[in-house]
Amino acid sequence: MGKMQDMYEDAKQYLVAGSSAGQRYNGVMGHPLYLDHADGCRLYDVEGNSYIDYHGGSGAALFGHNHPRLKAAIEKAVERGFFMNYDTEDTIELAKLVRQIFPSCEKIRLANTGSEATQGAIRLARGFTGRDKVLRFEGHFHGMHENIWFNHSAVHEEDAYGQVVTTPDSAGFQHDAVNPVLTVVFNDVDALEHIVKKYKGEIACLIMEPISFNCGCMIPKEGFLQQVRDICTREGIILIFDEVITGLRVRPGSAQKFFGVYPDMTTTAKAIGGGMSISLIGGKAEIMDHFNPIGNVAMSGTYTGALMPVMVSVECLKMALEPGFYDHFDTIGNKLYNGVNDLFKKHGMKGHARGVGARWAIYFGVENPDDDYDFRKIATEFDRSMDRKFVTEALSYGLWFHDTSAAITPGHRALLTAHTEADIDETLEKMDAIFNKIK
Ligand SMILES: Cc1ncc(COP(=O)(O)O)c(C=O)c1O
Repeated sequence: MGKMQDMYEDAKQYLVAGSSAGQRYNGVMGHPLYLDHADGCRLYDVEGNSYIDYHGGSGAALFGHNHPRLKAAIEKAVERGFFMNYDTEDTIELAKLVRQIFPSCEKIRLANTGSEATQGAIRLARGFTGRDKVLRFEGHFHGMHENIWFNHSAVHEEDAYGQVVTTPDSAGFQHDAVNPVLTVVFNDVDALEHIVKKYKGEIACLIMEPISFNCGCMIPKEGFLQQVRDICTREGIILIFDEVITGLRVRPGSAQKFFGVYPDMTTTAKAIGGGMSISLIGGKAEIMDHFNPIGNVAMSGTYTGALMPVMVSVECLKMALEPGFYDHFDTIGNKLYNGVNDLFKKHGMKGHARGVGARWAIYFGVENPDDDYDFRKIATEFDRSMDRKFVTEALSYGLWFHDTSAAITPGHRALLTAHTEADIDETLEKMDAIFNKIK
């Protein structure tokens, strides 16, 4: 037995499934990945193996691991008291940088996780509009709370108009949690028009991922996002872009700038903190001012705006604004995505890769890239067993693809500032050998 197996036997007596989070048990390894340390784009496990990281801390580690500028920000925060529970000049600097990056975020409120941000955003939308219902797209994911954790992990019954039966993704929800949540298929404007008409005047907000990396890399069809924007404006529905993953990953202005369509409110987290726990809700001032103490929608928290994550976030946003920052992702992204697509062809395997900016997915089994627009098609065609084989083989080649093979859609994979062209060459060479084995 290796050291990780020993650790697992010990850990599972004290930690549920031997790990600190539900997604961390690794089905392919038969135990969690126990790490010693991480640096740049490499992870180092307790058995002395190293891996090129294509998970990137679930999306938080856009800048790689142990980044010197982020480390320096942490050290400065340590010298100044690191927590404090009060705001500093850095908090104001952060808010100004956020407005520079997301002009639609005239004002912001901080939080700690993506889930907390979406929870607060939905509460604010309800408080602002006085309406109860929340509209969401099938397949999109917005965090782990009873307001919104529905219809990501399974396909549920759909009616003739594209409305899907809202169904929790976890046991333990109160029985009526589904009542205010409406679910509709993605990328179908007629379905959206129908549901909006059916519940006219009742819908507080529509929350969506502008690119659903939680379905692999599901992008809106040409023009769909603008149609969504127009419908929400017409119906007085607050449009929330959940940019928890897309934030900073697709040009500094994120997905909203990339598509040129702007929401009323934005939630973002992960990359903006470079590994620190920080998230934010931003939006039009007239909406945001309904948060307490100006307004009557309460939102606060003990750890909100702690000095260390704020100082690190300032550094992350500054880096994202530097000239050439995204050229790196264009260069290595094109090389990787095209390279993987060439490998599918070379080995006569069904599938393809799709990436936007610094996040991507491998669609084993999905031959036609046009199917990427459709959650139901992907859920049907995605070859989970091939994905699992790939992730398993990749381990012995020193490539880390987090095991998401229990999911019905492809897992989202990372690109980091720390990946170099040489890392991508090494990865493609190894993937060539892996595809040769598993085809
Ligand atoms: C789009 C989106 N929203 C919200 C969340 C929840 O974020 P957190 O895990 O920080 O609570 C996630 C997490 O993966 C996400 O991808």
